[in-house]
Amino acid sequence: MSAAPKPEILAAFEAAKGFMPLGEGLALYAAAAEAAALGLPLLEVGTYCGRSTILLADAARQAGVSALTVDHHRGSEEQQPGWDYHDPETVDPVVGRMDTLPTFRRTLHAAGLEDHVVALVGRSPQVAAVWGGPLGLVFIDGGHTDEHATADYEGWAPHVAEGGLLLIHDVFPVKIDEWTGQAPYHVYLRALESGAFTEVSATESLRVLRRTGTGI
Ligand SMILES: C[S@@+](CC[C@H](N)C(=O)[O-])C[C@H]1O[C@@H](n2cnc3c(N)ncnc32)[C@H](O)[C@@H]1O
Repeated sequence: MSAAPKPEILAAFEAAKGFMPLGEGLALYAAAAEAAALGLPLLEVGTYCGRSTILLADAARQAGVSALTVDHHRGSEEQQPGWDYHDPETVDPVVGRMDTLPTFRRTLHAAGLEDHVVALVGRSPQVAAVWGGPLGLVFIDGGHTDEHATADYEGWAPHVAEGGLLLIHDVFPVKIDEWTGQAPYHVYLRALESGAFTEVSATESLRVLRRTGTGI
């Protein structure tokens, strides 16, 4: 049976600002719990305010590994002022730009998970360039342009250990509106075509792949 989060973790997830619906969250948690058994860190690209991080962090805590989460905290294109996914509360009034780091820290504090997460603040390709170790799970939920999604895949997928999981969010085989884009779908196809990854499950727009071969 798949692992499921305890009620207090689920409550923290549902109370957190963010974009992940419950069904996908449960699938993310189950995958994270399975991957954490490899004894390697779990990594997310796209922290935002920490909604999905809660689930990775709790799964990591149960297995005694760390959850890592990467974000520059300035928001993706579609989250900027004037765009559909903008939340004015995320703007730092002093700097005049989005800053989701303070909300993320409050989210983790409220969930009691601060000690189980390493926040990596920076641009995903720059952080990936200095990361050297294997990972049990990589969850790609960062920028949705082809440039960003491809860089996330090329930067992080090589680190998924044999038997580890690669998760891709917002995979839409059919374009549904002008905001969502299909870059995550293109990355998902590339991962399958590489022969290095095999699909394990699909829940709404979340795809779970396992590393079953080498390369990317
Ligand atoms: C869709 S949100 C993540 C949602 C989050 N996982 C949740 O559950 O609510 C995407 C995040 O990716 C970040 N992001 C976009 N491009 C990035 C890049 N190149 N490097 C680091 N972070 C990036 C944005 O700042 C934004 O917070």
